[in-house]
Amino acid sequence: MNFDENTLTDAVLARMADCGDARLTQVMGALVRHLHGFIREVELTEAEWLAAIRFLTATGQKCDDKRQEFILLSDTLGVSMLVDAVNHRVPAGATESTVFGPFFVEGAPQLPQWADISGTAAGTPCFMSGTVTDVAGKPLAGATIDVWQSDGEAGLYDVQVPGGPMQCRARFTTDAQGRYAFRTVQPVSYPVPTDGPVGDLLLRLGRHPFRPAHIHTMIAHPGCATLVTHVFVAGDSYLSSDAVFGVKDSLVVDFKDHPPGMAPDGSRLERSFSTVSYDFVLAPA
Ligand code: BEZ
Ligand code: FE
Repeated sequence: MNFDENTLTDAVLARMADCGDARLTQVMGALVRHLHGFIREVELTEAEWLAAIRFLTATGQKCDDKRQEFILLSDTLGVSMLVDAVNHRVPAGATESTVFGPFFVEGAPQLPQWADISGTAAGTPCFMSGTVTDVAGKPLAGATIDVWQSDGEAGLYDVQVPGGPMQCRARFTTDAQGRYAFRTVQPVSYPVPTDGPVGDLLLRLGRHPFRPAHIHTMIAHPGCATLVTHVFVAGDSYLSSDAVFGVKDSLVVDFKDHPPGMAPDGSRLERSFSTVSYDFVLAPA
């Protein structure tokens, strides 16, 4: 009783100290301490408190089975990358992880080496290949690589085009030497969705919504930690200001331009194309 600004935090903490779940007490306790500390630090006004409630309400209302505005909020505030960082402290030599993003879809087709995943997507043809090994350099045969990306012109994922075909995504399996290879279109930079409260917040904060061009991968092999990462296109103008803070130097790669001619898959192209090579190294589980 009679709680004031000096005693209220301890009172809330005491009331959940004995819930029987030590982790829940720890997590909720820290959340309450930080929330109360935040309010004391900025001396939150009642109007600001109400604006925050309205913002969070609108964020929830924007969510459906295809759109997750809370994850977008987490992404744009650097929370997703911080959760990723504290959960994936990989040993030296292992490929670094980055944000998962909202555009992965279960059930993409399993395709053979050098299959073309681009479908009807516009863009410069691009041939990506490389290996999957463990940290000792041993090739990992039978690793699954899920790949997904935007098209190469508008920067849209297939799920952002109502009624459009599933494309620019597939699952590959590495061969006996741990190799993978596929044809796609070179991705371009694109804005995260801005037609919701998170977009409004970015605008108010003077921030742009763009992500630098990248290809998503998720790689799994028994005995190894599943790796969720991207390969970024070197030279992209948004590398240093990614809206979701996902860029790491080790993931930025040269996409080499080639004139029309023989492509790495053995086909002959009448137009220029690009190639990119990336060797993924999985940490132990
Ligand atoms: C993405 O890379 O697909 C992505 C990540 C975070 C927010 C929006 C998009
Ligand atoms: Fe993406």
